[in-house]
Amino acid sequence: VDITELHFAQRMNGLTGSAIREIFKYVSKPGVISFAGGNPGAFALPHEDVARISGELLRSQGKTLLQYGATEGYFPLRESLVGYIEDTFQARFAPQEIVITSGSMQGLDLLCKALINPGDVVLAESPTFVGALQCLNAYQAQVLPLKCDDTGIDPDHLEEMIKTHHAKMLYTIPTFQNPTGITLSLERRKRIAGLAAKYGVVVAEDDPYHSLRYTGEALPSIKSFDTSGWVVLLGSFSKVIAPGLRVGFMAGSEIILRRCVTCKQCADVHTANLNQAIVDVYLRQGLLTPHIRAILPGYGARMACMLEYLSTIPQIRHFTKPEGGLFIFVSFDEDKDVAALFNAAIGKGVAFVPGSPFYPEGGHKNTLRLNFSSASLEDIKRGMDLLNQYIQTSMS
Ligand SMILES: Cc1ncc(COP(=O)(O)O)c(C=O)c1O
Repeated sequence: VDITELHFAQRMNGLTGSAIREIFKYVSKPGVISFAGGNPGAFALPHEDVARISGELLRSQGKTLLQYGATEGYFPLRESLVGYIEDTFQARFAPQEIVITSGSMQGLDLLCKALINPGDVVLAESPTFVGALQCLNAYQAQVLPLKCDDTGIDPDHLEEMIKTHHAKMLYTIPTFQNPTGITLSLERRKRIAGLAAKYGVVVAEDDPYHSLRYTGEALPSIKSFDTSGWVVLLGSFSKVIAPGLRVGFMAGSEIILRRCVTCKQCADVHTANLNQAIVDVYLRQGLLTPHIRAILPGYGARMACMLEYLSTIPQIRHFTKPEGGLFIFVSFDEDKDVAALFNAAIGKGVAFVPGSPFYPEGGHKNTLRLNFSSASLEDIKRGMDLLNQYIQTSMS
């Protein structure tokens, strides 16, 4: 039988590769200025410290770390995360309420695997993270978009949607959201925790950008207002240490986590011990806080430069003004389509991501996402000049 006759599972219907991963093909070419990915800047990766810690760990605990480990995670890291999560997210957990995951992406995957039946309704910001949409689609969730403004999800709309559609889960990125950079207000955080408890809706609070704040005051997590156990906090060291380590965590009720651990057993058994131990030592040696302090000015300057440039382009109808994170979201008039701008920009060696794939309901072809963490300040100016030239000639 010819291999093209192979029938894939129904869950693969309509599931395509991430639009962003496709764009990486262009971005990896030498000389291309990328506003496309969500990668940390090369200057923000602490390779020297990681090299030193890896060597020390392998010499002192190599035989243990190279063995199989516990699915829940390397216990010293789970202990270290108690203090880290309390300081960063203002939420308290026992080590048993923390499971180490292979990035926060896996946290969402495990939650879906444990909770979502085909057709279950999951509510999400519109637009939202493409990786999350792919995951939700793979579990055949019915993803419904929520109205959002410059302070995040509209809680009245959320309540109405929960009641009307008997939603099973809310997926939200409350801080410096991907793709918009928007942060959910304090009042709305409290309200969402209350709605989760009132209606019995699981909230997947995905907060990988929390510490990348360049202006304004840090806010407590939604989880910090949760008294009922319906909120699960998904965290990650991808944006503050290194994405290649693939270390994240989920923190929440043991009732939910126990089932996620069962799902993780048949996913990857456990997250790599050595990588977990590297993150643990990085935290225990007090390296994370100074590292974040050292990288913030570089990111903040890049964001300020891009925002200033965007404010000079009259054809842009709206752009978000984040206080942190890695992204700015741009909208043109509704009758415009960024497809031609995308092709022209790629032709001139500048890449960005069109906004449409981030919307659960599609459409919004007049939008795009800009990342400011990968390019140097000089390249941001050059890249924005090139984008602007095309906008002036063709998007007026
Ligand atoms: C909102 C959001 N969640 C999760 C992830 C994935 O992070 P990780 O590397 O921890 O899996 C990303 C990465 O871009 C993201 O933007």
